[in-house]
Amino acid sequence: MSPPVPSVHPLTPTLGAEILGVDLVHVDDAVVDLVRDALTAHLVVFFRDQDISVEAQKALGARFGTLEVHPNDPGLEGHPEVMVIHADATSKRVAGQLWHSDVSCAPEPPMGSILRMFEVPPEGGDTLFASMYAAYDALSDRMKAYLEGLVAVHDGAPYYREVNTILGRDDGGRSYPRATHPVVRVHPVSGRKCLFVNPMFTTRIVGLPKAESDAILELLFQHVKDPAFHCRFRWAPHSIAFWDNRCTQHFAVWDYFPRTRSGYRVTIRGERPMAVGDPART
Ligand code: SIN
Repeated sequence: MSPPVPSVHPLTPTLGAEILGVDLVHVDDAVVDLVRDALTAHLVVFFRDQDISVEAQKALGARFGTLEVHPNDPGLEGHPEVMVIHADATSKRVAGQLWHSDVSCAPEPPMGSILRMFEVPPEGGDTLFASMYAAYDALSDRMKAYLEGLVAVHDGAPYYREVNTILGRDDGGRSYPRATHPVVRVHPVSGRKCLFVNPMFTTRIVGLPKAESDAILELLFQHVKDPAFHCRFRWAPHSIAFWDNRCTQHFAVWDYFPRTRSGYRVTIRGERPMAVGDPART
């Protein structure tokens, strides 16, 4: 029997697509190209029934770039690049319960993340994804003009310290990534403009009075919550989501307490965000 032909099925016109007919253990160049193109077109792609090992998940991520170690999460034993996403009846928090793009506080925030869930609750535990192209496009021309050229501080310390406090984890006075990034970023592959601020890490727009910065950031954080910019993914055991972290945000819904939800995430290194008018890097 000949192998299935891969096919891409959009979830919404805005973002999200399910890719059928691929085996993520045997990823040849044609599959890498297909996934890359689907990611560019749909921003987040989903796969079903991929019961793959940790090594295979790392190898999959490595086909798309260099894997990164998370700046706050200790990682899976023996696999520091693998972040454990886990919640059960003893949990005091879950990862990603706030709209965010992963580790946007880093000078070169990740290009993307690949999350495989191997245990999911019978109901709930969905992940929401939002298109930051759609969020940008929906702003008025006056607001777009105002935001272009502004840069904002993304600080890991407030969020990661709060996480460590909730978990009772001593951070030993460590320092966390902090960077300034354009509020409107140009995607290095699509060339499209997208909003690049999020309530997990963005603390301040540089050069504005604090009250004005707070008000503009709050407006943008509320704006991103518009369901017109979203898709919602219903997990099953061994589903995989691969999101482009440069032009999306995501939100993990914790509506399944005290049930268990478990998975592994690998994160792929990105680049310094480009502002509108920056010379494109080759
Ligand atoms: C995350 O990577 O932010 C967690 C996403 C999820 O658990 O659905």
